[in-house]
Amino acid sequence: MESTRSRLAHRLAEAGQSHLVQFWDELTPEQQAEMTSDLEAMDFQEINKFFRSAMEVSHSSKQEKMDARMEPVPREVLGSVTRDRDCLKDWEEKGLRCISQSSVAVLLLAGGQGTRLGVSYPKGMYDVGLPSHKTLFQIQAERILRLQQLAEQRHGAKCCIPWYIMTSGRTMESTKTFFSRHSYFGLCKDNVIFFQQGMLPAMDYNGKIILESKNKLAMAPDGNGGLYRALGTQGIVEDMDRRGVKFIHVYCVDNILVKVADPAFVGFCVQKGGDCGAKVVEKTNPTEAVGVVCKVDGRYQVVEYSEITLATAEKRSADGRLMFNAGNVANHFFTLAFLRDIVQTFEPQLQHHVAQKKILYVDTQGRLIKPDKPNGIKMEKFVFDIFQFAKAFVVYEVLREDEFSALKNADSQDGKDTPTTVKHALMSLHHRWVLNAAGHFIDENGTRVPAIPSLKDGTDLPIKCEISPLVSYGGEGLEELVSGREFRPTLVIDESGAHELVKNGL
Ligand code: UTP
Repeated sequence: MESTRSRLAHRLAEAGQSHLVQFWDELTPEQQAEMTSDLEAMDFQEINKFFRSAMEVSHSSKQEKMDARMEPVPREVLGSVTRDRDCLKDWEEKGLRCISQSSVAVLLLAGGQGTRLGVSYPKGMYDVGLPSHKTLFQIQAERILRLQQLAEQRHGAKCCIPWYIMTSGRTMESTKTFFSRHSYFGLCKDNVIFFQQGMLPAMDYNGKIILESKNKLAMAPDGNGGLYRALGTQGIVEDMDRRGVKFIHVYCVDNILVKVADPAFVGFCVQKGGDCGAKVVEKTNPTEAVGVVCKVDGRYQVVEYSEITLATAEKRSADGRLMFNAGNVANHFFTLAFLRDIVQTFEPQLQHHVAQKKILYVDTQGRLIKPDKPNGIKMEKFVFDIFQFAKAFVVYEVLREDEFSALKNADSQDGKDTPTTVKHALMSLHHRWVLNAAGHFIDENGTRVPAIPSLKDGTDLPIKCEISPLVSYGGEGLEELVSGREFRPTLVIDESGAHELVKNGL
């Protein structure tokens, strides 16, 4: 024991991290044993190296704006649901064929801590308050089920869309238990594959690892780009290969509108011969804090709003749109061959980014301190950091109101990206689906509600309407249920048909 301890003390001293054992003598033998095993598992040299290079990159990106090196996405690699309407059916057909051959997998990034939302459980378990009270996980699972069914109907062969779910040390157990408690929402258990991303310690600005209690290091997941290391360490690439997966759709847990394994997106990327693709939404406001996909020194990457000048953010093309308007929504297509190259060759070249955070810590007196301003950094890789390695990068532009509404924050007055805004985004999409299928809504007096709901009490409340993904993946198949009919909200459409909810619980 003594020699283990002195070896550890030596390693810590060498790495400049001896403060981690400053409360050693106050710990119980169990706490000492646990801390020893935590510390022994850490590669301090690697962590210190990550810290130095992340700080360097962060410093130089603050110094130098990207403007002069940027070029917008060229039209030839771009597909658009609005500008290429003629091609949509073909792309969708192609994607559905791939799905029917079981060569498409989906991969969910669900390792985040959801600190802004402020719940203690994984974000995918959140119920945003829809009439059905479905969680984000359930909505996504049911979209997968429905899409499998659509591909099977179209091509007459049984197929499966494996669902890879990346969790972290903080979310793994509760995520797995939740899925098992809900019988995998009707999916085959063997086709839902959980794996875990890595964790890194939070550091102060001098590179000292932060203690969150006397016997625990402040650990955080290594960013959604931790995906690429985890794909290798957890044998996921091999698993995909074994299952015959060729194409992977990667997305974030918090987008309530996400079209998992979107056949049109997959079909577009495959048809274009892309090895790496990004789904984007149009950035229309120059000062919107969204990263844009563009070329920098001839290679694709996402450039954050803070990395460019306002003049560049405001530049417009001949058609009047912003020149840099490909808003990144962390929704990607990869071929398995591309992912394999990343895991085997390029992953170590990816740099961590610095996220300044308020990190709970114990001070030298052992008191727990909750800082009111950022006191340290978390080191994160981003899922889009690998665009630079693509040989055939493609971009697919979709409508924000149809496909992107993210849950980031807790509800508050006029809040953005909250449970209320995402619930409204989903109900508003489903409202439009009903109208497009020739259904109508009436108010309590039996009068038809105009297609564009009017402002009531100063708030733009959507028609209350929810369609189960088990009935419709993207608005299809609703005519026989709603055409020519009038509904009083709340309308719920599920496997047993279209119902008006008597009690208006929303
Ligand atoms: P965000 O950057 O919004 O982070 O993640 P978050 O953890 O959900 O929320 P905050 O910032 O703590 O409030 C975008 C997506 O990336 C995933 C998240 O689960 C979400 O789907 N993610 C994030 C990971 O999978 N791993 C990470 O380390 C970080």
